[in-house]
Amino acid sequence: MTDELKNSLKADDQPVTLLIIGASGDLARKKVIPALFALFCQKHLPRQFQVVGFARSWMSHEDFRNKIMEHLTCRYAPGQSCAEKMSEFLSRCFYISGQYDDPESFNHVRRELKNLEGGVPTHRMYYMAIPPFIFLEVAHSLRNAGLVGGAHEPSWSRVVIEKPFGSDRNSSDELVREMAKVFSEEQTYRIDHYLGKEVIQNLLVLRFANLFFDPVWNRSYIDHVIISWKENIGLEGRGGYFDSYGIIRDVMQNHLLQILALIAMEQPVSLSSKDIRDEKVKLLRSLAPVVEQDVVLGQYIEGTWKGVHHPAYRTEESVPPGSKTPTYAAAVLHLHNRRWDGIPFLIQAGKGLDDRMTEIRIRFREVPGNLYGHSIEFFPRNELVIRVQPDEAITLEIMNKKPGLEMKLEQTRLNLRYDAAFNEDIPDAYECLLLDVLEGDESLFIRSDELAAAWDIFTPLLKSIEQEQMEPEFYPFGSKGPERVKALAERYGITSEL
Ligand code: BG6
Repeated sequence: MTDELKNSLKADDQPVTLLIIGASGDLARKKVIPALFALFCQKHLPRQFQVVGFARSWMSHEDFRNKIMEHLTCRYAPGQSCAEKMSEFLSRCFYISGQYDDPESFNHVRRELKNLEGGVPTHRMYYMAIPPFIFLEVAHSLRNAGLVGGAHEPSWSRVVIEKPFGSDRNSSDELVREMAKVFSEEQTYRIDHYLGKEVIQNLLVLRFANLFFDPVWNRSYIDHVIISWKENIGLEGRGGYFDSYGIIRDVMQNHLLQILALIAMEQPVSLSSKDIRDEKVKLLRSLAPVVEQDVVLGQYIEGTWKGVHHPAYRTEESVPPGSKTPTYAAAVLHLHNRRWDGIPFLIQAGKGLDDRMTEIRIRFREVPGNLYGHSIEFFPRNELVIRVQPDEAITLEIMNKKPGLEMKLEQTRLNLRYDAAFNEDIPDAYECLLLDVLEGDESLFIRSDELAAAWDIFTPLLKSIEQEQMEPEFYPFGSKGPERVKALAERYGITSEL
């Protein structure tokens, strides 16, 4: 967001009500409310605000405050001031119980909000921390209770929703169409929390605020790109959700495609959310739908990671014993445009692997007519590695003369480690995204045409996987994943370790 826009938004100091629907769930307690507390400590919330939790279980305001307190951290208010800040924040937190499918509950919400707001014009943010199959019902109930104002009213109403947005192109379109009957596109903030991560936000800066990447950022100099997402954990109680979605819908179609778009898109006309998202859509539309031959699917079986035994995916809670849902997938994506034609983008995502990390590797081509090519058997190529998490870093592998009297070459790393280079804390993605919702900046949220383009890339593949009952390759928990991925990578000349 530009400073000018930020200042104009800050000038509006109207009170805000933050209604968290599904307030007793993990997302609300562990992510959304702690992020609001962090914003409060940093003075990013308006002077007058209230956080109102809504969920099914009965609780008093005090019970709710005790429940959410557990996850508030003192990162931005160390020492004594933390206790003060916490009690000030908690005194502005309230709770309303009701049923998601009961319109009367939402009339009750309206009456309660009116009391809390004291009749003062108040902006409202509705955060749907609930399963997607009840988004629509809740949205309609909010509207019927008179809680949703028009897009251009002085007191805004904004809704925040989290993936999954449907399970393929059709169901996603349907969700978008139905939600639009209540909240217009500009009132709808579709979160992909990876876009709020610090290093991901740096991608456009790295590319467009530095000159020297520009001339080499294309098919003439880049050989391939690998985007890896790994987790060394299992389902953590989310078996029911995960088994009906699988890793492609859970991580690839959203987080990894978004990263790819930021790596490969053209420079936007400006930093406005429209211009940034226009460029992303253009990029996503030039990606060919993924084909079966370019994909490897895997599923973890029991295994041991760091001495701890983990059960097989099929024996996890709420997973059917014969499930074929992939917990790992690798795919090679092809961009049909002038900059990237012929360059493979290998993306991989897996749970139950040997590491927890997200990383982008941009591998350059061989040096042509290399003066030093004869001096080593295998001449390493330059590689730019962008480490998204953990240990955020940007490193560039370059060739150097090894100090000494002999002419010996060695690959060395230029290393920008965030913890060494910056004193600042890295904010949680939700802090940044919630601040943007409050300020009305949509650049880091998924626009409906962007969502449609992202589904087009995976929908045909997802259909074939389901129709053909494709068998995933088994890999032990804590391993590097399916063996077949090596053959897929080699087919595209990718020999580096994945
Ligand atoms: C979510 C996925 O979007 O991202 C989860 O649904 C995954 O399966 C999570 O564990 C990872 O997020 P982070 O921020 O911990 O990398």
